[in-house]
Amino acid sequence: MDTWIEDRPRAQQPTLVGVVGAGYVGLTSAAGLAALGHRVRVIEADPDRLAMLERGELPIVEPGLAELIDELRRAGRLDFTSAMSAVGGASVVLLCVGTPPRSDGDPDLRQLASAARDVASHATADLVVVVKSTVPPGTCDAIELICHGSAREDIAVRVASNPEFLRESRALWDFMHPDRVVVGAAERRVATLIRDLYPAEWPVLLTDRRSAELIKYAANTFLAIKISYANEIAALCEHLGADAGDVLEGTGLDPRVGPQFLKPGPGFGGSCLGKDLSGMIAVANRVGLEAQLPRAAQSVNGWARMRVVEKLEGVIGDLEGKHVAILGLAFKPGTDDIRDSPALDVIAIITERGARVTATDPLAAAVDASIERFDDPYDAVRGADAVAILTACPEFSGLDPHRLRSEMHGTAVIDAVGVIDVDAFEACGLDVAGIDRGTPCAFHPVILSPLRWTLSG
Ligand code: UDX
Repeated sequence: MDTWIEDRPRAQQPTLVGVVGAGYVGLTSAAGLAALGHRVRVIEADPDRLAMLERGELPIVEPGLAELIDELRRAGRLDFTSAMSAVGGASVVLLCVGTPPRSDGDPDLRQLASAARDVASHATADLVVVVKSTVPPGTCDAIELICHGSAREDIAVRVASNPEFLRESRALWDFMHPDRVVVGAAERRVATLIRDLYPAEWPVLLTDRRSAELIKYAANTFLAIKISYANEIAALCEHLGADAGDVLEGTGLDPRVGPQFLKPGPGFGGSCLGKDLSGMIAVANRVGLEAQLPRAAQSVNGWARMRVVEKLEGVIGDLEGKHVAILGLAFKPGTDDIRDSPALDVIAIITERGARVTATDPLAAAVDASIERFDDPYDAVRGADAVAILTACPEFSGLDPHRLRSEMHGTAVIDAVGVIDVDAFEACGLDVAGIDRGTPCAFHPVILSPLRWTLSG
């Protein structure tokens, strides 16, 4: 038996757990729970996805996950099926289906409702249904009503909230090393059952269902606000001739602020932060509140993406007929996920303004057919008037500036994610613009007011 499984902390009570939905959250939770000692059955409705999983392939890119799942399947702790009847013997079923955003900002909960209905109608004994997907407060109450309507009369289905906080590309690590496990339940018995799925030493917060649901929104909204704040500070630094890297480092060194999520860039993306921000705003609006900070973070994020375009135009002028090479399509390094990636917006705007776009990404596929995608960054930049680095992939920090310069037609490099050695690039004749570097200037207009106030004593 491989040590990966044996080295894990043990769950308090080995349990048969059903997991509905084989996406990021479902696969990671299933593998994590099986590694903790539970017996896990994953129910996936999509036949293509299921066939892939049965072949031992994963529909997502996630370090270590395929190997662990393979090992757990061979150990008889984890299997995949399309049959909802598999929940029959389980005492706990996790719902890990998608909650994509609707156009009004609220999440689309139809997959969740349909999964809950299916699970409840196949329950053969009392069951706890756990909502892992991110949902607006009140959803668990609603799902419980749906379950009551679908389950046999002699069966009690209780619904609880246990939001997942994992980050893509670090999902397994996050699952196994949680800052906190949040459990929201209406009854102590149900809360305890879920808490006991996890090792006793893990920090658990037991609360009511609506609070648990809101914790996920509040956490992701705060992260989004923090990034947008960093982007505003970075812009201010550029205008003041200050160094945003130092300013944000100095700010984050205060433990009340903290150093994480203060890196400026082309704005946040991915499947969660933007969606949860919209979800939070919609929740607040429904009860008559304005959600002013979340709204500001949302608007700053759109502006952060636009700044990349403005910087491009600042260095190469009108984009009509220009060739721009985009380095990085995924919303962050280590994933092939392009959902809500800043690169999508930047490409859409510059294409609309007449630029020809080539692109490269270590993992992500082309955004659409209108752009040419290359595996090799040097192929992508060949003949380009400008290069924009939009994902902080280690592959891009290792680029040889001499070779880049010789492949390009122009000299403009926009490093929106701060991965390259600016001095080395500039020494090769490249003109680098970042998101965080001001142009120090002894008589910048910014000093006029302080000077006047100093002299007018
Ligand atoms: C996020 C949350 O971190 C996680 O807890 C939640 O469960 C799901 O949403 P994820 O979407 O995987 O995880 O990515 P994350 O690493 O949080 O990054 C989100 C976006 O913010 C990325 O586009 C990233 O590039 C950007 N970001 C992050 C910044 O621009 N600056 C930072 O300092 C940190």
